[in-house]
Amino acid sequence: MSTVSPKGLSPAGRAPIRVAMLGCGTVGSEVARLLTEQAGELAARAGAPVELAGIAVRRPDKHPELPAELLTDDAAALVARDDVDVVVELVGGIDPVRSWLLTALNAGKSVVTANKALLAEHSAELFEAADASGADLYFEAAVAGAIPLLRPLRESLAGDRITRVMGIVNGTTNYILSAMDATGAGYAETLDEASRLGYAEADPTADVDGYDAASKAAILASLAFHSRVTAKDVHREGIADVTASDLAAARTLGRTVKLLAICERVTADDGTESVSARVHPVMIPRSHQLAGVGGAFNAVYVEADAAGELMFYGQGAGGAPTASAVLGDLVAVARNQVHGGRGPRESAHAALPVRPMGQTPTRYHVSLDVADRAGVLAQVAQAFAAHGVSIAAVRQRDANDTASLVVVTHLAPDAALQSTVDEIAKLDVVHEVVSVMRVEGEDA
Ligand code: HSE
Repeated sequence: MSTVSPKGLSPAGRAPIRVAMLGCGTVGSEVARLLTEQAGELAARAGAPVELAGIAVRRPDKHPELPAELLTDDAAALVARDDVDVVVELVGGIDPVRSWLLTALNAGKSVVTANKALLAEHSAELFEAADASGADLYFEAAVAGAIPLLRPLRESLAGDRITRVMGIVNGTTNYILSAMDATGAGYAETLDEASRLGYAEADPTADVDGYDAASKAAILASLAFHSRVTAKDVHREGIADVTASDLAAARTLGRTVKLLAICERVTADDGTESVSARVHPVMIPRSHQLAGVGGAFNAVYVEADAAGELMFYGQGAGGAPTASAVLGDLVAVARNQVHGGRGPRESAHAALPVRPMGQTPTRYHVSLDVADRAGVLAQVAQAFAAHGVSIAAVRQRDANDTASLVVVTHLAPDAALQSTVDEIAKLDVVHEVVSVMRVEGEDA
């Protein structure tokens, strides 16, 4: 017999799933709106009505748009209430959120969270609490907003062997780099404009210095490679040092610059595997799918042995898009409660070690202004050879007694490439190191 009423709305006879929402900003207000406006549809899909039991906010008096009887400033007390089945956390940050979520999970209350910083540091502890009590822990909204990405990694690709997850997971930096590419302007000027237009936060540090993307990379690497990877394991470089010259050098070669999160399974010559997780600016060919992702959009490229190449694209931030991911998780939790199932647990059985950045194979693009005379190219080439770095392509353009020299390497350990660039910068024949950028997205 169907649990759905003839109208296809609220399933008869089911006790409601009661939700405590912590935080009610841009995303939370959209979650509250959709829970109300789509109550009938959501109940039909979940198998029981899903309703708000309370909303914890710092200043209840600042939320006249919400029913006063739902509001509280005491998140800990709301989480502990007997009539709460699920906690939706949209506050962000680590403390005190961590203790609220542990309280919920320890009491068997499932958690839906968008908190990438917390998950990137403490997911092991949260999963252990969830496992001990039989609660669910869902966090689709923590990475790439509306884009269904974590569920495919946790569930759809659970039977495959993922080798790489690479993508644009921060809209603020993508907006800035897209604008620098389009206008030729420098970083500081473009950041100011992005702030003025509301595309960058008043304090853009977490975005432009790569912390936001590094947390997301840790979550992606953990799921893709069934290993515990934390934000501290992720090599992180932001976009503050990307110059107009970098973008110009890229343009000359038919490339552009993106801030990418790159999570790879690296197999050493002896067959041992490790995980590399890094966030840094990258030069990619304009023909690459990620190069066409402009403005504040996100896109993530996944490679797996059997599935081949997959691409996930969409809005990575914003109230309604992120609320879509939260509600999807909420329906999953409700279905599990109604039908007696469990969501996926932590999968960290592979326990692959994290490879230090210096040992991670990368490719470099190096653009130099050099003296235009006999033996200069040989000196530059010798510096690469001395560090065991193989050159893939060299291009020279002359202007008076100076030459512009571009060298693109084959794959080499990142530390060897760094040492090569340090040595080249000291050569008398090198007038200026114009641009140094890692390269992705083309054959090595
Ligand atoms: N601040 C992030 C971005 C959105 O700029 O993409 C939330 O993860």
